[in-house]
Amino acid sequence: MFAKLAAILFVALSAFSTGAAAAPAPATSELVARGGSHSFDNYDGISSLSGFDNFYGSDNFDNSHFSESSITVVKEKEVVCHSESVEIIQQRLLVLQEMAKRIISEQICEVETQTVVFEQFHSSLHGFSRDLRRASGRGVGYDSGISSYFSNFYNSDSSLSTNDWGFSGHDLGHSYVVPSGNNWSNSHSFSSVGNAYRTARNAVTKF
Ligand SMILES: *[C@@H]1O[C@H](CO)[C@@H](O)[C@H](O)[C@H]1NC(C)=O
Repeated sequence: MFAKLAAILFVALSAFSTGAAAAPAPATSELVARGGSHSFDNYDGISSLSGFDNFYGSDNFDNSHFSESSITVVKEKEVVCHSESVEIIQQRLLVLQEMAKRIISEQICEVETQTVVFEQFHSSLHGFSRDLRRASGRGVGYDSGISSYFSNFYNSDSSLSTNDWGFSGHDLGHSYVVPSGNNWSNSHSFSSVGNAYRTARNAVTKF
């Protein structure tokens, strides 16, 4: 039984990775193929999903509607990138990952809601991958207004804040900062970054 399952899994995984290596699907066609309206308000009668659609919109589960035109770049705030060692970056990103896991496991009790909310987070975050490959039209940056709430995560007793911070996904992009100083060059980087992306994706073993 286990061997059979393992064999099926192996075939499925190899089919996926061969497909990905041979013909990397353009990100845009993925979006077109899967889009459309997917409401989760009261999905399966689950009350903790009530109002879920308001945040990004019922036809915008993965925030794929987030476009260049949703972005207002804050010009007065010039930020220049500076390279830190990769371990320092990996530490910070692991903190963000564990904080997301803490919020989902500690502040949601319904397991279906935990699942839907996580998939939304994961897929909307992946939009940044298209930014990095200059496939989205959006600048490579972040919303400085929204990221500034990072310091409001905790109450003074170090429990997690439950305050309503008064914004939704529709506010994303209103005060965008696009750091300068990265070494993107149109003449080289589409191919070298594309190769780096495919090599990295081929290193991913589970989905
Ligand atoms: C960016 O920097 C890396 C590391 O120094 C280098 O390999 C790459 O060629 C640079 N890209 C461009 C477009 O200059």
